[in-house]
Amino acid sequence: MLYLDNSATTPTHQEVVDAMLPYWTDIFGNPSSKYYSQAVDAKVAVDHARQAVATLVNSKADEVIFTSGATESNNFLLKGIAMSHSNKGKRIISSTVEHPSVLETLRYLETQGFDVVYLSVDSFGRIGLAELEKALSEQPTLLVSLLWGNNELGSLNPIKEASELAHKYNAFFHSDATQVIGKVPVDLENLPYVQLVSVSAHKFYGPKGIGAAIVRKDEMGLSLKITPLLHGGAQENGYRSGTHAVPLIVGMGKAAEIAYSKLNEHRQHLLTLESKLKQLLMQQFGDVIQFNNDESNKIPGILSVQFKGLNNEILCKELAPVMAVSTGSACSSSKPSHVLQEIGCTMEQLRSTIRFSLSPYQSEKELDIFLEL
Ligand SMILES: Cc1ncc(COP(=O)(O)O)c(C=O)c1O
Repeated sequence: MLYLDNSATTPTHQEVVDAMLPYWTDIFGNPSSKYYSQAVDAKVAVDHARQAVATLVNSKADEVIFTSGATESNNFLLKGIAMSHSNKGKRIISSTVEHPSVLETLRYLETQGFDVVYLSVDSFGRIGLAELEKALSEQPTLLVSLLWGNNELGSLNPIKEASELAHKYNAFFHSDATQVIGKVPVDLENLPYVQLVSVSAHKFYGPKGIGAAIVRKDEMGLSLKITPLLHGGAQENGYRSGTHAVPLIVGMGKAAEIAYSKLNEHRQHLLTLESKLKQLLMQQFGDVIQFNNDESNKIPGILSVQFKGLNNEILCKELAPVMAVSTGSACSSSKPSHVLQEIGCTMEQLRSTIRFSLSPYQSEKELDIFLEL
């Protein structure tokens, strides 16, 4: 069975599983405990993983806050900034195609008196810088939150330019980078105004249930004040209480090491696979398909394809014995895709759309399964 739903989640890499194993049974100590080896060694492992995640995004290790995943990171960063800094204003700018963990958090903040501006997007799901600047110039803004790369279309937003605009208008800048990590270079040292970033391990061959919020220090090296979601033992510099999930953190660290060392190779291979898949789809179904995504400036390995006249749910079900594909985001699979609606697809078009998301661990040969369909 060919698994083509790697944007929903990825299998845990065997080296990641192997790296995690000792931390369930032998090195099981609480890293916040002291003196004895099980605890000290667990702390060393958490620090090592923190450095690996920092290296992957080119930030500093003490800017990496471990969370349970990108949903938590998005909730923590958006609510936390809103609660800590509402004296700067109650206006937030985001976009209509964000992941539900951002959109629903923003809707909650609206009930708490925040005013959220949702920028519309172009036909490939990207925001426009002129619209962003217009929104920023209208009123003082507390925070801008924009998806780095779209989970359904792969389109990349102009994050550098958008963060510079946010800085110009004295707003914090957050980006949900969940889908780009391991597929697109993320170099935070060279993006000084991207202050807050959300990351999830299970999208880059790490375990599920672990992720990170990257909270950059300011030019003076000072930490940003963010009200935590979880109060308690003040782990993670007080940003995120709760005993560290050591095996999962070790797994995320190992996955980050592999993603970092293989980034260019994986990127190239995903591009090759994407172009082969595109070619096979054209060859087999050329007269009934249409691509929703464009070709450049996107995450490699994600294709969103309309199969005219077919129902995507039925198609996914029919294909399930031979191939795993999805109708779009796993997090909103019960509803028609808001992303496709926002780029102007009709209900008929979005009900005939399938997302294929490839893995760098797949071979070109495996895609020949399409020749038999
Ligand atoms: C863009 C984006 N943000 C956030 C998430 C949520 O991540 P997690 O499963 O780690 O909570 C996902 C997962 O599908 C995603 O694609």
